[in-house]
Amino acid sequence: MSIRDDFPILNRKVNGESLVYLDNAATTQKPQIVITAMNDYYQNSNANVHRAVHTLAGEATEGYEACRNELKNWFNAGRVIITSGTTESINLVAHAWARANLVAGDAVILTEMEHHSDIVPWQLLAQDIGIELRFVSLNEDLTLDLDAFEASLVGAKLVACVHTSNVLGIRNPIEKIIKMSHANGAKVLLDSAQAVPHEKIDFKDLDADFLACSAHKMCGPTGIGCLLVKEDSFNQMQPFMGGGDMIQTVTISGSTYQENEHKFEAGTPRIAEGVGWAAALKWLSKIDLHSEHLRLLEIARWTAQQIKDIPGMTVFGRHADGDSAVVSFIHDSVHPEDMARLLDARGIAIRTGHHCAQPLMQRLGVEGTMRVSFYLYNNQAEAELLIETMKGIVERFS
Ligand SMILES: Cc1ncc(COP(=O)(O)O)c(C=O)c1O
Repeated sequence: MSIRDDFPILNRKVNGESLVYLDNAATTQKPQIVITAMNDYYQNSNANVHRAVHTLAGEATEGYEACRNELKNWFNAGRVIITSGTTESINLVAHAWARANLVAGDAVILTEMEHHSDIVPWQLLAQDIGIELRFVSLNEDLTLDLDAFEASLVGAKLVACVHTSNVLGIRNPIEKIIKMSHANGAKVLLDSAQAVPHEKIDFKDLDADFLACSAHKMCGPTGIGCLLVKEDSFNQMQPFMGGGDMIQTVTISGSTYQENEHKFEAGTPRIAEGVGWAAALKWLSKIDLHSEHLRLLEIARWTAQQIKDIPGMTVFGRHADGDSAVVSFIHDSVHPEDMARLLDARGIAIRTGHHCAQPLMQRLGVEGTMRVSFYLYNNQAEAELLIETMKGIVERFS
């Protein structure tokens, strides 16, 4: 059995052609084991978690909390708050930690390559409490300017930084960033949405203060993600959403709160999604992520070079060791959407647009790009088909 055999969607035809799915940075496909686990939960164990003593409630609670335990093991993390995804995790840091611990004039450091989900929450907070936002610029080769980063750290309280860019595939030197930030008294929040699918992260070893990620980019369901938090920062967080499950007692004169992660998980949680994510992590744990990463990076390097050789194409990103298997590019006369539609007619799914990174688009001097992103079930033959098809399209249009 190959990895591909585990993904039923890969058997479908799109516009009469076999599906070639190259939009993995947006979301990955789900192995059968994840689909089965979620169906099984709804068919056999559906109930609400944490309160009732009946059998189904016990099974639902066990399934949901098993996800947290899997995540603790996967990331070697002490505190795992389950959220709806990277976006909610970052917003949670802004509301539960930053709002309670920062004051007007405190600086939060961001970079020019952030996803909107690591920009807009900070802009909203800046409007509310007057924090200062500093955006670190990029070098000519689109890597982060570490001198500018160091200079920006004076007076900074938090560095909120993308671990691996969803547009460029560039992995930032986060180990260095964490050391430099801590040496200057700033905490670090990593947006690891694009990193966790490609590298096994040891949160304790890494020493970041917060790490945000989403299940759906690592073969898990949509609508669930998590925030890993170091203990001292966890203790500094104040409740954000109020409601059921996050309280110890409620009277009409006030409430007391849970002391564990439930404090930040008000309301009925994503139970089926938790069951699905736990299944995805079990499935992923059987795969050698590092050697798969090297295989996919080789495919991305080959693809980037082939695209560069097509007249009129410009490729962004460097595809160095550690970068993810993402290739963003533009053509000087074929519009990205035209290219994507023509590829779709051949069953090939790629992404176009600003990729929720408009400041980076401004830095690149483009409105949007085409982007192909590879994951575990992709292979060299698919990259070859992509290149051959794109060459034909460019020849016809140019
Ligand atoms: C780098 C990065 N950060 C954040 C996000 C937001 O993730 P989600 O939509 O799952 O919250 C994405 C999704 O594309 C991303 O690529």
